[in-house]
Amino acid sequence: MTGSRIAGFYRLDVETRRRRLAAAVGLPADEVTALEHTLPIAVADLLVENAVGTFALPFGVALNFRVNGCDHVVPMVVEEPSVIAAASNAALLARVAGGFVAEADRGAMIGQIQLVGVPRPALAAERLRASRTRLLAAAAGLAPGLCRRGAGPRDLEVRIVQATSGDAMVVVHVLVDTGDAMGANLVNSLVEGLAPLVATIAGGTPCLRIVSNLADQRRARARVRIPLASLTTDDVPGVEVAERVRWAQELAANDPYRAATHNKGIMNGVDAVALATGNDWRAIEAGAHAYAARDGHYRPLSTWTVDDGHLAGTIEMPMATSIVGRLVQSHPQVALALRILNVESARELAMVMVAVGLASNLGALRALVTSGIQRGHMALHARAVGMR
Ligand code: MEV
Repeated sequence: MTGSRIAGFYRLDVETRRRRLAAAVGLPADEVTALEHTLPIAVADLLVENAVGTFALPFGVALNFRVNGCDHVVPMVVEEPSVIAAASNAALLARVAGGFVAEADRGAMIGQIQLVGVPRPALAAERLRASRTRLLAAAAGLAPGLCRRGAGPRDLEVRIVQATSGDAMVVVHVLVDTGDAMGANLVNSLVEGLAPLVATIAGGTPCLRIVSNLADQRRARARVRIPLASLTTDDVPGVEVAERVRWAQELAANDPYRAATHNKGIMNGVDAVALATGNDWRAIEAGAHAYAARDGHYRPLSTWTVDDGHLAGTIEMPMATSIVGRLVQSHPQVALALRILNVESARELAMVMVAVGLASNLGALRALVTSGIQRGHMALHARAVGMR
C-alpha cells in the first residue's frame, strides 16, 4: 500500500483511476477491474426471496484518510453527489494535522429476552441475577463456535420495564462479544435457546427474543484537530469558518430539527462505507439515532469546538460492524471493498467508519457555512441529467 493520497484522482478517466487505485492499495489491476462485476443473479436468488434482478449504485473511493497513523483508501457506495468529495476534502484537512485518532470498544452486542406475566418481577430479577453464572454457562454452551474463536457471552443484565398498562415486564440482556461478526444471527439464536431456562428461573412467559440495535456496548469514537488556517476558503478566513461551524454546532445541540440533518451528514459517510463493505446499514442507522436520543433529547453525534487555534471535532456512536459473513463470501464487490480498505478486524472497520462519519460531517459543515452545498451538488446533478 502506497498510501491514501492520490493527487488529482478525480480528474483521471475511470480506467486510469482503477489502475492508480490498484497500485495504491497493492492489489493486482485485474482484481480491481472486478468492480465491473455486479452481483450474479444466482447469488441474489440465494440472498433474498422472490429475486428478479440486481440493483447497482456508484462505487467510489474516498482518499486522504489517515486513521491512527495508518492510511486507508475508503470504498463508498452512494448515489448522492458531493459525499465522496466532501469526505476526501475533509480527510485532507485532517491529514495535514496528523489525521484521525479513533478507538472502538471490544464490546458486546445485546440480546434481549422479554418475559411477560412474571408473578413477582422484583423477586424474579433477584433470582436471575443470582443465577448469572449458570445462565452464562448455558449461553456459552449455545455458542460453542463463537467461544472457540475467543468471543462469546460476557455478562447478563436484568431490567424491569413498566408497560403502559402498568404491568411490569422482566427483560434480560445477554451481552455477547461477537468478534468480527455483526452478530445479529448469533445473538438471536442464543437468546432463543436461552429463553426457556430464563423463564424457568424467573417464572412468566418468554415473548421477544432478539438482538437490540442500540449497540451501546459496542461504541466507536474518533477525534480530529484542524489548525484554523487550514479551514480558509476562497472567500472566508479559517477563523471565521471555525466560528460559524461552532454556531452550527450550537444549533444542532439545541434543536432536533437541525440535529437530524447534522447526523444525516455523518451517516452519509458511515452508510456509504457500510454498504460497500456489506454491513447492515439499517442496524447502524437505528443504533445511531437511538443513541443520539439516549437522554430523552435527540442530539448531534459529533461535537465541534474551537480550542487553542484549532477546530476540534469528536464523534461517538454505536458501531456494530462485521468483516465476515455471507455477503463477504458471496458478493464480489464487498470482498474487494474490504481488501481495498485493508482493515483486519470489525473494530478497525468501526474506527475507520466513525472517522469517515466525522469527515463527512466536517465537509458538509464547512461547505454549508461558506459557499453552501448546492454548487457542488448541482454541478454533478447537471452532468447526470445530461447523460440520460
Ligand atoms: C446532505 O446529504 C447532508 C447535509 O444536509 C448535512 C448537513 O446539513 O450537515 C449537507
